[in-house]
Amino acid sequence: MASTTPDLDSRTQIHHLVVGFYREVVFDDLLAPVFGEVAEVDWTVHIPKLIDYWCRVLLGEPGYDGFVLAAHRAVHDVEAFRAEHFDRWYALWVDAVDRRWQGPIAEQAKAHAARIAAVLARRLLAIDWAPPEATALGPAHDVAGAGTAGAL
Ligand code: HEM
Repeated sequence: MASTTPDLDSRTQIHHLVVGFYREVVFDDLLAPVFGEVAEVDWTVHIPKLIDYWCRVLLGEPGYDGFVLAAHRAVHDVEAFRAEHFDRWYALWVDAVDRRWQGPIAEQAKAHAARIAAVLARRLLAIDWAPPEATALGPAHDVAGAGTAGAL
């Protein structure tokens, strides 16, 4: 019998993931203030943007035309990110994916998030951030390589 756990292979699935992830973020003691008090994020703008971003990354769909590094640099300039922000963000993301999705694209969603988090940590904080399963994903110095630059 086929698996009943879907992969992130459509815009609808990605929509559910992004909405579910931010539902956790807004109740998170560490991350909620970054989005609320620091960045004053308008969720009606942010959520569709993030859906577009992940549809581009995972499905190759056009749509997202922002600058991820610049957006985070602007937030960081108001109040500096810390390593624990990346730990929490990534833990919530992995949780959100694993709770409802399974397959090669779901794996890609986690691996891509780890790479971008590492690049952001490197560029903004000048630290080597790596997810817990870093050894499975390859050494941190690989993250700035080809394939990541376009996403930033
Ligand atoms: C420490 C972890 C992170 C925190 C606290 C964080 C926080 C934020 C905040 C507050 C914004 C809104 C910026 C604004 O509109 O003013 C934002 C935007 C965004 N974030 Fe993150 N983020 C984190 C990591 C990541 C990672 C790892 C990714 C990608 C895998 C990512 C993808 C995005 C994207 C695509 C945007 C929209 C950028 C744009 O405006 O075009 N974030 N993030």
